[in-house]
Amino acid sequence: MSIRDKYVTIDSLNKQVGQCVTIAGWVRHHRSPGKIIFIVLRDGTGLVQAVLEKKDADEGLFAKLKNIGLESALEITGMVREDQRAPGGVELTITDAKIIHSSVDYPITPKHHGIDFLMKHRHLWLRSPKQAAIMKIRDTLVFAIREFFHNRQFVLVDTPIFSPSAGEGASTLFKVDHFGQDVYLAQTGQLYLESAAMALRNVYCFGPTFRAEKSKTRRHLTEFWMVEPELAFADLDDLMRLAEDFICYIVGKVLENNRRELELLDRDIAKLKNIVKPFVRLSYDDVVDILHSDRAKDLLENEANRIREEINNLQNQLKELESQEMQAKKSWQKEKIRARIIEIREKLPELNEQLSNIPKHIELAKNFRWGKDLGGSDETIISKLYDRPVFVTHYPREAKAFYMRQDRARPKVVENFDLLAPEGVGEIIGGSVREEELDRLIERMKEENMPIEPYQWYLDIRRYGSVPHGGFGLGIERTLGWICGLKHIREAIAFPRMMGKVYP
Ligand code: 4AD
Ligand code: MG
Repeated sequence: MSIRDKYVTIDSLNKQVGQCVTIAGWVRHHRSPGKIIFIVLRDGTGLVQAVLEKKDADEGLFAKLKNIGLESALEITGMVREDQRAPGGVELTITDAKIIHSSVDYPITPKHHGIDFLMKHRHLWLRSPKQAAIMKIRDTLVFAIREFFHNRQFVLVDTPIFSPSAGEGASTLFKVDHFGQDVYLAQTGQLYLESAAMALRNVYCFGPTFRAEKSKTRRHLTEFWMVEPELAFADLDDLMRLAEDFICYIVGKVLENNRRELELLDRDIAKLKNIVKPFVRLSYDDVVDILHSDRAKDLLENEANRIREEINNLQNQLKELESQEMQAKKSWQKEKIRARIIEIREKLPELNEQLSNIPKHIELAKNFRWGKDLGGSDETIISKLYDRPVFVTHYPREAKAFYMRQDRARPKVVENFDLLAPEGVGEIIGGSVREEELDRLIERMKEENMPIEPYQWYLDIRRYGSVPHGGFGLGIERTLGWICGLKHIREAIAFPRMMGKVYP
């Protein structure tokens, strides 16, 4: 029998009640109060509790499992019993077990670790249920994205990662030596995709993207994944309707396939069910008005009150827990209380920082000047005002990329949109109609002091059968972070790359 054939997976145990099965996995929890041993085993498909009572076990087996370390790899044979209280509805009564590998002093324990420690142990942290749940939702998301475009006859075109020139602005390029020639890691596949759209009409690319972002924020990675559709013969309205259908589809697929994972992450599912058409549509000008209005100020002041209240609650809880800790008799009780105390102590400075930033955000909103790109805090305000995603269209030309189409009726703005996800998340999509007139495009590149020669191939798209066209790019990690309700984008990718963080 092959190894695969020998073991049943934990997610299928509920169909094997009353049978004797063999499973294999890793020890997630282990408890042995006296004459009984409880082991929670996980195998990547689920968790199950396995139980061994001393009176039923032979001496050797009991001793072997009595002090087994966390994350040891075990093979367990046992009888599947129905148990309504158990997470998967079943428990296992152990009849035999084999240690595949004994693990000693696993570094991640049930106590609360700080984020720096967890990030350094990312290769192990991925084994934790919440982190594994995020990866499962990511898998659904990526599959749904490909399905959506495939079903609509978009052709996948893989664009290069070594790029001879900038796609999104020279300030965020990573330089690489390509046999003596300087090239850059791709910031976008878009320029190549535009030429592919002229061959295939509807195309998309999906791959890793690189930006030397010197910002340590909750929304920035230096390596992230982006899906970019590009359409020949399309205007701004076509693009926004596609984006709307697209978001509804992928959120719907996660709701359909990942209820369990979303619950594990304590995600408010009602908020995701709210994601239906039509989304809110605002112009950049509308947004400037909102930022200058009392609505923005009130929102931020309410936010400050909410945070103050939360800080108060947590401080009271902390006092309570500290006295409970003194009184706790059992060491596992103390441990549990301790974990919560550490968690709160870590959260308080975060909240205090958020609170102290609010006056700055009020100031930024009040003094927002027409012409600037929206900043993180501006986006947060807008996205908190609505319970659906918000399209912001027609940004000032000077704030956006060179390839965006100038609005013919209003030359100061471009035909573009950003899509802001709700709950304060902010931009998850950036897109636009592309400038299709050769002369206007060259003029704009000159304004930006861009060299023309390296882009001759790109300009050819405007020389040979130029048509109205456009597309957008959706960042996978920001979208996943929003769907999962994560505070920081770093948990939305298995091995995040950020300024100052490239290990492991
Ligand atoms: O708005 P951006 O820069 O748009 C483009 O790259 C266009 N070429 C897309 C297109 O029209 N084909 O980036 C698109 C999205 C953002 O909305 C965001 O979700 C994500 O990519 N993104 C990042 N995600 C994580 N870390 C970063 N540093 C990101 N920069 C952009
Ligand atoms: Mg953008």
